[in-house]
Amino acid sequence: MKIVIFGLGYVGFTQACCLVSQGHQVVGVDLSKDKVAKIMGGEPPIVEPGLQEMLLHGLREGRLSALTDVGDELADCDIAVVCVGTPSSVDGSHDMRYIANVTQDIAESLVKHSDFRDQPLAVVFRSTFRPGTIEDLVQPIFESVLGDACEDQVQIVYNPEFLREATAVADYFSLPKIVVGTQDGRGSALMEALYADIEAPFFNVPFRVSEATKFIDNTWHAVKVAFANEIGRICFGMDIDSDKVHEIFVSDTKLNISAHYLRPGGAFGGSCLPKDVRALQRIAADKGVSTQLIDSLLRSNDAHKHCMFERASAELQRGEHVLLVGLAFKAGTDDLRESPNVDLARMMLDHGFDVSIYDPAIEPEMLQGANLGYVSARLGHLDKMLLTREAAERGRFSRTIVCNATANSLDLSGHRIVALSAI
Ligand SMILES: NC(=O)c1ccc[n+]([C@@H]2O[C@H](COP(=O)([O-])OP(=O)(O)OC[C@H]3O[C@@H](n4cnc5c(N)ncnc54)[C@H](O)[C@@H]3O)[C@@H](O)[C@H]2O)c1
Repeated sequence: MKIVIFGLGYVGFTQACCLVSQGHQVVGVDLSKDKVAKIMGGEPPIVEPGLQEMLLHGLREGRLSALTDVGDELADCDIAVVCVGTPSSVDGSHDMRYIANVTQDIAESLVKHSDFRDQPLAVVFRSTFRPGTIEDLVQPIFESVLGDACEDQVQIVYNPEFLREATAVADYFSLPKIVVGTQDGRGSALMEALYADIEAPFFNVPFRVSEATKFIDNTWHAVKVAFANEIGRICFGMDIDSDKVHEIFVSDTKLNISAHYLRPGGAFGGSCLPKDVRALQRIAADKGVSTQLIDSLLRSNDAHKHCMFERASAELQRGEHVLLVGLAFKAGTDDLRESPNVDLARMMLDHGFDVSIYDPAIEPEMLQGANLGYVSARLGHLDKMLLTREAAERGRFSRTIVCNATANSLDLSGHRIVALSAI
């Protein structure tokens, strides 16, 4: 394929070299005369292992070139790839001027070459930007320049880049995943052809989902680093070998390094997590160690509980009858200590709702000790609120609030459900 890449920085130049090595013809476009001159002189504009040889190979074969202006290159090109920067602006948002300018450049070039093209140009955005950017910024620019011809001339794709600097070439050929965002989420034949040689999970999704993935990945990586460093500081403060702690931690691929605990749903609770997070905060404070991420966990969890209440009670009036399905922090246990669902039931009562509960694991007369203490301080008449399975299934409620997986064993057909937890 002939591919034109806009922006020859860390992402664009690496991609240019990798595409050339796969046999494609690549023309790079960058506003920087300096970068373009360097590339044409055989010198990579960035430091990245492997690129020097790939660049020289591309130049020798006549399949890689760089320009400061796209000129007529889009007339016969198969794919245009956008890799311009999205640096921070003063208010913290991405500065979108480079994306806006390059979109305008591409659209204007297409107007000039519309007579030469018999099919839409796939314009693939790889820069990182907020969900909604394609629909709210990129599409309107194309539409304003190309007018009614827009659909016939451009096929917009969002394809986030997951490479890491210093291992970028290796990453390019060994991707963790490939995400392709399109208007209808059904994918693009050209993108499948482009990635045909690369084995990785492939996701075809709508624009907003694809735009969100990169944000989530980067934020998650930041959480991991901040968490590791806070744990490292606590270990250092307690003279504990943090390397050994790390080795044990990452060896657990069932619960620690796994998909567990990462699905959006209910707040955390139960007899261990809140108590032990609180105690670790105390240890850190005793040792004079600042742990801002760990300190934020219970606050974040409280905020989530309020959010769950807002969702559960939205558009309901005082006095309406609601059914909560699942009272313990997860299905199949009668441990009610610090269960977020007990807190939710209390909030619903405080706001004047008539609350019934179904949780077959809870037998009030069997509760004892701290478990009994926690629930009786919050739900004094739990025994009167609990329903049998039949009463829960057949009852008439304004709303049924699914709080944990208890709902999986219940026939809730005919119920008006708000799911706070996956069913
Ligand atoms: N650096 C990474 O490791 C990495 C990884 C994944 C995603 N990203 C994202 O990819 C995007 C690019 O990152 P980068 O690090 O390669 O940026 P960069 O600053 O190194 O390169 C951007 C290039 O775009 C050029 N440019 C700006 N406007 C242009 C225009 N109108 N036409 C042609 N060229 C133009 C600039 O001159 C610059 O050379 C960013 O959104 C970034 O967040 C970066």
